[in-house]
Amino acid sequence: MTDIFRCILLLERNAGNNCLDVFVACFESSGMKRDETRHNFGGPCEARRGVTFFEHRIALTQHYNNFVYCVYTPHHTCGLLVLGGQKITGSDVRDQNVLATQAIANIVKSSFGPSGLDKMMVDDIGDVTVTNDGATILSLLDVEHPAGKILVDLAQQQDKEVGDGTTSVVLIAAELLRRANELMKNRIHPTTIIVGYRIALREAVRYMNENISTKVEALGRDSLLSIAKTSMSSKIIGSDSDFFANMTVDAIQSVKTTNNKGEVKYPVKAVNLLKAHGKSALESVLIKGYALNCTVASQAMKTRIPDAKIACLDMNLQKERMKLGVQITVDDPQQLEKIREREAGIVLERVEMILKSGANVVLTTKGIDDLCLKLFVEKGAMAVRRCKKEDLRRIAKATGATLVSTLSDLNGDERFDASNLGHADEVTQDRISDDECIVIRGTKAHSSASVILRGSNDYQLDEAERSLHDALCAVKRTLESGRIVPGGGAVETALHIYLEEWATSVGSREQLAIGAFAQALLVVPKILATNAALDATDLVADLRSRHALSQRLSSDPTTAAHSHAPNGAAPGTSPQKPSSRGSVAGGAGGAGADEEARALAHKKNYRNYGLDLKRGRVGDSVKAGVLEPAMSKVKQLKSAVEACVAIMRIDTIIKLDPEQRGGEDDGHGH
Ligand SMILES: Nc1ncnc2c1ncn2[C@@H]1O[C@H](COP(=O)(O)OP(=O)(O)OP(=O)(O)O)[C@@H](O)[C@H]1O
Ligand SMILES: [Mg+2]
Repeated sequence: MTDIFRCILLLERNAGNNCLDVFVACFESSGMKRDETRHNFGGPCEARRGVTFFEHRIALTQHYNNFVYCVYTPHHTCGLLVLGGQKITGSDVRDQNVLATQAIANIVKSSFGPSGLDKMMVDDIGDVTVTNDGATILSLLDVEHPAGKILVDLAQQQDKEVGDGTTSVVLIAAELLRRANELMKNRIHPTTIIVGYRIALREAVRYMNENISTKVEALGRDSLLSIAKTSMSSKIIGSDSDFFANMTVDAIQSVKTTNNKGEVKYPVKAVNLLKAHGKSALESVLIKGYALNCTVASQAMKTRIPDAKIACLDMNLQKERMKLGVQITVDDPQQLEKIREREAGIVLERVEMILKSGANVVLTTKGIDDLCLKLFVEKGAMAVRRCKKEDLRRIAKATGATLVSTLSDLNGDERFDASNLGHADEVTQDRISDDECIVIRGTKAHSSASVILRGSNDYQLDEAERSLHDALCAVKRTLESGRIVPGGGAVETALHIYLEEWATSVGSREQLAIGAFAQALLVVPKILATNAALDATDLVADLRSRHALSQRLSSDPTTAAHSHAPNGAAPGTSPQKPSSRGSVAGGAGGAGADEEARALAHKKNYRNYGLDLKRGRVGDSVKAGVLEPAMSKVKQLKSAVEACVAIMRIDTIIKLDPEQRGGEDDGHGH
């Protein structure tokens, strides 16, 4: 279909009749000349020529089914023009994009949900990563297709903004795109689909906020524990989720701060995750304070400093050396001695200056010379060298210190102000498990927490860190936004039923796109069930019937009558499905049966029903403790639609062939 060959166009102005001759030579990608033609067109009139040439170019393009573009410069009697490349348009490009996104979604599909499996990624230098996290899997892939890249970016964006739900967002986006492509094949214009999707998104978010999500205050600490457990259920630490959920909630609650605007924030970055080899995951510890994976610079130093005044430095406290290239000629050996003394003196002065400002804990990212250590020991201060810069930045923030990279002020004098110091209740060197680390407790500006993860190998520790990070993010989002929704596919099914019904009230062609949006949401419960080795068709049908019943009966009887077509149209979504389990609506019966079903739906809270994967049936997700932050779901839908729209808007791909080098002989024999 898409022949790749080069066309070389030579435009010649025929001096005689002022016409334009086009000479076209076509080469196959192998370099074989395929065809050679000369076209004569245009008339003697200058103005007319442009038009004709344009028309003719289209004809040529069609003729060669190739990407040809020309630059016509009328002043050149002969010009060499152009182009090798590939142009794909219309349904071909859409098919390609859908294929690429499906391929990406298929990679992460089997990692989705509590029964999802892990992936082992080996990079080009042999580094191994074992993970279940969607964003990590995708970031380690080397995706070349532009549409695929959009999905990879989407997962990264979700990871950055929410922290969890990266697999879901990719799956939903790929499904939305697949369904959009089907609609386009049925001659629905992409613009209509885009508008339809956006309308559906708006309505879905509105419905979720008004009818599905619950305020978290009503549920307390238990709901936070459930959120953490749900987030880590699919991960390596899922089996110890009781232990880690408590740790997560304690950690995030201990870093609670209020910013200048009076908003309460829970910065995940204030929770420092450290990894230590050995022992089992259950021996991980949470420390209220900032733990640094370093030790004091000298054994003689104190290992506990109460009422700490902390100096955070990003500079060397080592003997000052002459700059490279500086040459000094001395003829007196005493002068040389003086130079040496001065070299050592400079750094000693600096240390004294810092200690004089009142600092009793000095942390630096660089080295500290042994000759300075004496000063610290004499003054009873603690010094720690080779800290990570990122750690110091956070400590500076938590203690109210300033990370100082030079002591010089604008006049060139050196000084260290006491205002650069941070404060904490105490700094100690603690033995935690087999390791020693510095712990800063009671930081004054912001509180902080640290988790020391234990595990037998690097892969496990890395994955545990990622999983804990996901859980911390999920709890943070819940605390900040204050709303939760039931998980296990409950939200998606509820939105599916609602949107399918609501689509019928939209009298324009966007209805089809809204219907497709509703259908696409079902991908979540379907994959959850499939990954748990359950019958997705059966379970999803059961789930749908309960949500349909709940929505039909929970709405006001008058509006219900209004919104439902006579005799319960919408055949696919009829809530009165004759259930083999006999537990749902019973028969289609009269008012009495309806009343009974209504009572049952209320009593059993069908609107919270999701998949209970352990028992292989549907159940109340809120009761089962499968909860997710509402904000994460909203963001998932929004980002998925945006990515889908971005890909759907593409109708042409023009890809130039890479420039071929070294083909020509330069006459030098190489
Ligand atoms: N116990 C459970 N029963 C049913 N569904 C569950 C349970 N625990 C989690 N889920 C569901 O699993 C899904 C989350 O799975 P998972 O954590 O693998 O993916 P993700 O959060 O989208 O991506 P990632 O965690 O990789 O960033 C959610 O839809 C959640 O409702
Ligand atoms: Mg998750």
